[in-house]
Amino acid sequence: MTDFYAVIGNPIAHSKSPLIHAEFSRQTGQDIRYEAILAPVDAFPATVSSFRARGGKGANVTVPFKLEAHKISTRLTERAQAAQAVNTLVFEPGGIAGDNTDGAGLVRDIRANLKFLIKARRVLLMGAGGAARGVILPLLEHKPQVLAIANRTKQKACELQQLFSRYGNGNIVSAAYADLAGEKFDLVINATSASLRGELPALPAGIFADGSLAYDMMYSDGLTPFLQYAKQQGAARLADGIGMLVEQAAESFLLWRGIRPETAPVIEMLGSCTT
Ligand code: ATR
Repeated sequence: MTDFYAVIGNPIAHSKSPLIHAEFSRQTGQDIRYEAILAPVDAFPATVSSFRARGGKGANVTVPFKLEAHKISTRLTERAQAAQAVNTLVFEPGGIAGDNTDGAGLVRDIRANLKFLIKARRVLLMGAGGAARGVILPLLEHKPQVLAIANRTKQKACELQQLFSRYGNGNIVSAAYADLAGEKFDLVINATSASLRGELPALPAGIFADGSLAYDMMYSDGLTPFLQYAKQQGAARLADGIGMLVEQAAESFLLWRGIRPETAPVIEMLGSCTT
């Protein structure tokens, strides 16, 4: 019997998740159907309930509902609790389990696909909103020498530093972009929404260390503004968020179906901008 899954968001028309999960289902032979559901901004819980009532087994949740998904979950994984955001719902008898696979997806893309080791490296995370928050715990698990959280509004970076300090070993720092002058990083991750408006965080010049990887959690046709900047600034390697998108989807698929699909052919199919 076919099992139903969905991605719920607003807007949702351009989501690549249905395509990704259709590929996973074809590849693994799992009998699932995965659709995109547009939820009215004020009716996320009702949308989840009606999907469940028509046989839904689980759902991905995207902008702007990750916080609400956290609220309606009756059980949370530690990483979802730390992120205070949920991107994967698993409908269980009597409740809803909420997880967050975004950070694991990012880290897996960086380590397994891009073969970049986080351990003992200097990592800069730009942004202190929901996207940044969701990836801090998985990054810390790989023991960077330093995890610097930089944000336009420094206070928000400082709050995240305090919130996550118990998971680090004194290696988390917070900064405004201007504070980073003279510093170099091996891995620079853009978790801001600046690219959505064609803008860039005001990074000082010279922050890319030799051999560094610039990673944009966003993606677009061609290089994102951040990746164009990183290239000009001499970052050795560039990667956009397509790998993360596919890896977080694979983690969700694993939660629902108990099978981890192959991600490389799907990343290839979607055409990631990676050098
Ligand atoms: P998301 O859930 O995608 O992280 P968010 O919570 O609204 O969205 O956070 C957006 C992040 O992008 C914030 O870190 C924001 O910085 P501020 O906290 O200072 O607002 C950052 N951001 C957005 N536009 C930016 C820009 N033009 N330059 C630098 N940072 C920007």
